[in-house]
Amino acid sequence: MMKELALHVLDISENSVRGDGKHIEILLREDLRDDTLVIRITDDGRGIAPDMLKTIKDPFTTTRTLRKVGLGIPFLNDTCLMCGGKLEISSTVGVGTTVTASMQYSHIDRPPVGDMPSTLMTLFSSYPDIVFRFQYEYRAAQEEEMRVFSISTEELAQILEGVPLTNPSVYMWVKEYLQENMEDLKK
Ligand SMILES: Nc1ncnc2c1ncn2[C@@H]1O[C@H](COP(=O)(O)OP(=O)(O)OP(=O)(O)O)[C@@H](O)[C@H]1O
Ligand SMILES: [Mg+2]
Repeated sequence: MMKELALHVLDISENSVRGDGKHIEILLREDLRDDTLVIRITDDGRGIAPDMLKTIKDPFTTTRTLRKVGLGIPFLNDTCLMCGGKLEISSTVGVGTTVTASMQYSHIDRPPVGDMPSTLMTLFSSYPDIVFRFQYEYRAAQEEEMRVFSISTEELAQILEGVPLTNPSVYMWVKEYLQENMEDLKK
């Protein structure tokens, strides 16, 4: 089953939330020059013990208690492997976790990025006490330079002067802001 990458980003970020991350960084890099797509999610949460880290790509590795399987990581791992890439997870207990997914950009099986603004808005508005940073990087095939767009929920809060992201017109405005900035980078 194919799933858009934005939904993988949501899954992996939810792990960071449940892992008690207070700062979560989400990087999406589309590098047409190198023919790679990279997603990297970093948190400062409780981390993953070495024993668990060894088997984390196995569906039966989970600290969930209501069901015995955890599918977020194995599923993204499958997608990476299917698309000529890999999934790397590094973690230090008490410090945090970094999950890096790479894929061949032009791979025929690579899922579309999908609706990143919706994923981001879901995270930003569901977890107002967590500081999120999103960075989008894009490099065209014939370009030397990486174009970068970066925004944090702290910066957004300053712009919004206390109006919460759950306010419907603010929600729409920020979502469009993300959409436009991502599209602009590709022009
Ligand atoms: N960023 C993280 N910080 C702390 N623990 C993590 C992190 N990411 C994953 N884990 C641990 O790895 C386990 C497996 O994660 P995975 O996403 O594969 O499954 P899950 O989250 O348990 O279930 P599902 O993703 O299907 O809802 C989690 O249960 C959690 O214990
Ligand atoms: Mg998960």
